[in-house]
Amino acid sequence: MILDGKALAAELRANIAKRVTALRAAGHRAPGLAVVLLGSDPASQVYVGSKVKQTEAAGMLSFEHRLSAETTEAALLDLVARLNADPAVDGILVQLPLPKHIDSSRVIEAIDPAKDVDGFHPVNAGRLATGLPALVPCTPRGCVLLAKRARADLAGLHAVIVGRSNIVGKPLAQLLLQENCTVTIAHSRTRDLPAVCRLADILVAAIGRPRMLGAEHVKPGAIVIDVGINRVPKDEGGTRLVGDVDYEAAAAVASAITPVPGGVGPMTIACLLDNTLMACERRGA
Ligand SMILES: NC(=O)c1ccc[n+]([C@@H]2O[C@H](COP(=O)([O-])OP(=O)(O)OC[C@H]3O[C@@H](n4cnc5c(N)ncnc54)[C@H](OP(=O)(O)O)[C@@H]3O)[C@@H](O)[C@H]2O)c1
Repeated sequence: MILDGKALAAELRANIAKRVTALRAAGHRAPGLAVVLLGSDPASQVYVGSKVKQTEAAGMLSFEHRLSAETTEAALLDLVARLNADPAVDGILVQLPLPKHIDSSRVIEAIDPAKDVDGFHPVNAGRLATGLPALVPCTPRGCVLLAKRARADLAGLHAVIVGRSNIVGKPLAQLLLQENCTVTIAHSRTRDLPAVCRLADILVAAIGRPRMLGAEHVKPGAIVIDVGINRVPKDEGGTRLVGDVDYEAAAAVASAITPVPGGVGPMTIACLLDNTLMACERRGA
C-alpha cells in the first residue's frame, strides 16, 4: 500500500477550507497566519511560497514578512513581538534554519505559545509531553495521520523512530505514545541499527541521509514512514528528491510505505493550516 500524502493532504485542506467558511459565515474574521523568512535560501523560498498559496486557498489570511539575511536578532524579536500583539494574527511561523548570527531558540521562545503553530515553543513541547492540549509540530502530526491510513488503530504496535530532533523525532515519539504504541527512538549512537529497526511494526526515518535504510532494516509487513527530504544528483544530470529510505528495497518488504516526494511532505503544510485554524478557534478573538 502506497501511503499517498498528496491525496490525504488535499482531503485535509478541503476540510479546513469548509471549517473556515463556516467560521466566517458565523461572523468571525478569517484566521491569519504570519510567515517570516530571512534570506534567500532556495528550499525555504519554495516552502514559504507553498505555505502562502495554500493558506490563501483555504480562505485564511497570509501575512508575509520576507527580510534580508542580515536582519539583526533584535529586529526579528521586535517583529515577533508585534505579531504576538496583532489581533489579526493567529499563527506565527518563523522559517528555519535562521542565519547563523541569530539564536533560533531565543526566537522560538519569544513567540506567544498560543500562536506557535509550528509547535516548537518549550511550553507546547512540555504540554505535549504531559498530555495537555498543545499546538503540535506539523510533520509528526502528518506522520501519525499517514500511519493511521495504513491501520486505524496503532495501539500495541512497536514504533521505531530513527532520529531524535526536536522538530520530528521527539514530538513524534510523544504522539505515538498517545496512540498507545511501544516507542523506541534510535539515533547516531544506536548500536546495531538494522536489528533495532527490524523490531518495528512502524518504522519512521527522520535522519537526513539519502536512502540510508534498506530492506535489511524493515520487518516484513511493517508500515514505513519516510520523513527525509534529500536532494541528490541524477545520473543524467540535474537533481531529484529522495527520502531517508531506499524506497524500492523497503517497499518489497513493507506492507505500507510513504513515497518521497508525495508522502510526509504535503502533510506538513496541511497540518500547519489545521494548527492555525485551531489556534484561531482557541483564541476565540
Ligand atoms: N517532510 C517534511 O516536511 C520534513 C520536515 C522536517 C524535516 N524533514 C526532513 O527529515 C529529515 C530529518 O530532519 P531533522 O530536522 O529531524 O534532522 P536533524 O535535526 O538533523 O536530526 C537527524 C537525526 O538523525 C540521526 N542520525 C544521523 N545520522 C544517523 C545514523 N547514521 N544512524 C542513526 N541516526 C542518525 C541524528 O542522530 P544524533 O541525534 O545522534 O545526531 C539525529 O537525531 C531531513 O531529511 C529533513 O529534510 C522533512
